[in-house]
Amino acid sequence: MSNAHLLTGHVLTFSGDPFVTPWADAVHLGENSAVLIEDGRITALGDAAKAQGAHAARHDYTGHLICPGFIDAHAHYPQTGIIASWGKRLIDWLNTYTFPEEMRFGDPAYAQATAARYLDLLLDHGTTSVASFCTIHPSSVEALFTAAAERNMAVVAGKTCMDRNAPDGLRDSAQSAYDDSKALLDRWHRRGRAHYAITPRFSPTSTENQMAALGTLWAEHPDALMQTHLSEQVDEIAWVRGLYPTARDYLDTYEQHGLLGARGLYGHAIHLVPREVDRLREVGAGLVHCPTSNTFIGSGLFDLMGLAGAGLRVGLATDTGGGSSFSMLRSMAAAYEIAQLRGVAVHAAQLLWLATAGAARVLHRADEIGQIAPGLAADLCVLDLASTPAIAQRHAQAEDIWDAVFPTIMMGDDRAVADVWVAGVRRT
Ligand code: GUN
Ligand code: ZN
Repeated sequence: MSNAHLLTGHVLTFSGDPFVTPWADAVHLGENSAVLIEDGRITALGDAAKAQGAHAARHDYTGHLICPGFIDAHAHYPQTGIIASWGKRLIDWLNTYTFPEEMRFGDPAYAQATAARYLDLLLDHGTTSVASFCTIHPSSVEALFTAAAERNMAVVAGKTCMDRNAPDGLRDSAQSAYDDSKALLDRWHRRGRAHYAITPRFSPTSTENQMAALGTLWAEHPDALMQTHLSEQVDEIAWVRGLYPTARDYLDTYEQHGLLGARGLYGHAIHLVPREVDRLREVGAGLVHCPTSNTFIGSGLFDLMGLAGAGLRVGLATDTGGGSSFSMLRSMAAAYEIAQLRGVAVHAAQLLWLATAGAARVLHRADEIGQIAPGLAADLCVLDLASTPAIAQRHAQAEDIWDAVFPTIMMGDDRAVADVWVAGVRRT
């Protein structure tokens, strides 16, 4: 049996969406179970894995939790260097910290170094896939996809398009955004594990001409994703209203230009009006919850239970570097805290689903990543459930397996990541 690995430990699996069916029916934690990997893919679970994997290389993760690799459904790799920058809300934060840093990506060497550092940080944190914005520079996209291919990571990315309300040196045009995005899409979409996302940054930084051009590109390439921002801060929404006087609401600025669809990823989506919620549900669009960002930049409290419970598709993300952490564990903890502020407790099973299968669904890659199931890629994160003295002493008091997992979600960081597997290869 070539290239076979048998991993033993607690194994997390899913059979449904734990926000629309009771979590206990949708999420399963197989204690002392097993995963068999052959040639980069998961081929068997549980007793079948143990039986078929008799001759496989053995990896004993007893007491650890074997999860799908985490999927960060919205991030900005070019903001790696300015994460945790103090004191600003969204628009001032963009102008003060983000745009000057993104300007530096005109230098391909800087983009390459940052892309490599960023992906290594993700893997340190157990994140095996990301949907990332790049900058307006096509070479920033090349840098990320190239670094991802070197690590065999399934990454979604796109050139960020902006042709107004951004500084000199950080604007393209409607035509060049179309041309550059098309060239990158043709070159990278479905090449290896790369998927392309057409990426208008957000309505305020695109003219209607640019929005329309990108809508046309999406119509010509309906298999591509589209990623952007939606209704993050109240001031931003007022600004959008002034810039798009004929739009019914923020979502309509996208809808009017062909930028609303099932393969659309809408980051934040905090301050939605009922029409927007209805339309997002009707088209099956993906919402991306960015909890550490929403508190760090002071944006608001995403209605996770209301929206996911109503059947909208939701994934979880760091929104690095508006978000204050690279860690999806920290993002799960922040999602829990925000829901508590709204009066509801999200279960650990639901949090883990959001960071894996839920995120894979909004990325339209559930047939490849986000679950531990035969046929899927062996992208895995192995969590030590007692990784620090503080967590270990709480873990020692756990009453059941879920109670043993929850302290790591709330208090864990990269120290909890015992091992990461990407396409069946253990990261050393
Ligand atoms: N809205 C437009 N651009 C950005 C960005 O880079 N980060 C966040 N959090 N919101 C945005
Ligand atoms: Zn963002």
